[in-house]
Amino acid sequence: MEKKLILGLETSCDETAAAVVAEGREMLSNVIASQIKEHQKYGGVVPEVASRKHLEIVNIIVARALQEANCTFSDLAAIAVTNGPGLVGALLVGVNCAKTLAYALGKPLVAVNHVLAHVAANYLVHEVIFPAVCLVVSGGHTSLLYLTSRSQAVLLGGTRDDAAGEAFDKIARVLDLGYPGGPAIEKAAAEGNPKAFNFPRAFSGQDDILEFSFSGLKSAVINNLHHMRQKGQSFSVSDVAASFQEAVIDILVEKTVLAAAAKQVKTVLLAGGVAANNLLRERLEKSLQNDGRTLLVPPASLCTDNAAMVAAAGWDFYVSQKFAGLDLNATPVLDKIWQAD
Ligand code: KG4
Ligand code: ZN
Repeated sequence: MEKKLILGLETSCDETAAAVVAEGREMLSNVIASQIKEHQKYGGVVPEVASRKHLEIVNIIVARALQEANCTFSDLAAIAVTNGPGLVGALLVGVNCAKTLAYALGKPLVAVNHVLAHVAANYLVHEVIFPAVCLVVSGGHTSLLYLTSRSQAVLLGGTRDDAAGEAFDKIARVLDLGYPGGPAIEKAAAEGNPKAFNFPRAFSGQDDILEFSFSGLKSAVINNLHHMRQKGQSFSVSDVAASFQEAVIDILVEKTVLAAAAKQVKTVLLAGGVAANNLLRERLEKSLQNDGRTLLVPPASLCTDNAAMVAAAGWDFYVSQKFAGLDLNATPVLDKIWQAD
């Protein structure tokens, strides 16, 4: 029998993406149009600009995804779309495109939580043995999840304020390193001394807390910069970047190791845009190895927003026949981790 194909759609932030994935694993196409250039001049994503750009290009991206997968609309089993969390105007473009396709083609519609989609990037490249713990760390999320299957996730803890990626982006802006901040900070940090500044690590050593907070760290970096600039003191941007990155990574590693130990899992997954950070990957892998655990991470290209991960996550909902209605709406805050079985 022919394999079942899911078309995935992703427009939650500044990437317009469509992909065709066979049975939740096999990536047949993965087309991404990044709007980074549009937003760079503003130093961050402008929501209204993002929605307009999605609208201009979404149909073209869908057509290209089908073409690259060498299939047509009639070959699809279902349409999966990110319906939240994210920028509401941006999400609405993908959701309406998916609803229109589902209605016109008479195919099932599947709503995908963006956080679960990031987790699912791992399923495209790894055979995951459950239970597992996953750290989803991106521009919008810093969440520790406990997974008992591909589609059963429980939130162990999240961030009380900023997401880690958001902190990377804000600190890059105050250091004039440009947008997106993560890769820029990582590059600058490679030349710097991670011990030059001792920035705060919220909840470090508090083993009963599996949550994060990055606003104090952000303020500490900004205050330090103000003081040095006011006093006319010279400083190395690379040292600030390296010390900031070190503080973020230290706490991400500490809490993930703690969660893995608490849940006694053998496997830990890393996902989301910040998972593209090489130092985070290395440090987390090493710390988990010391405890006899394995770290799985998707390639960097599947860590940042894409639609293959949406189609992969959508597969499990398709199998469980958890379909969305044509009244599906975009949900900017979607804390609930939707479970398929
Ligand atoms: O997953 P993603 O593409 O979008 C969201 O769902 O938010 O993640 C984007 C975030 C941005 O904050 C970006 O600065 C960060 O991921 N990022 C990185 C790196 N590459 C991207 N952060 C740290 N190091 C990187 N190499
Ligand atoms: Zn994302």
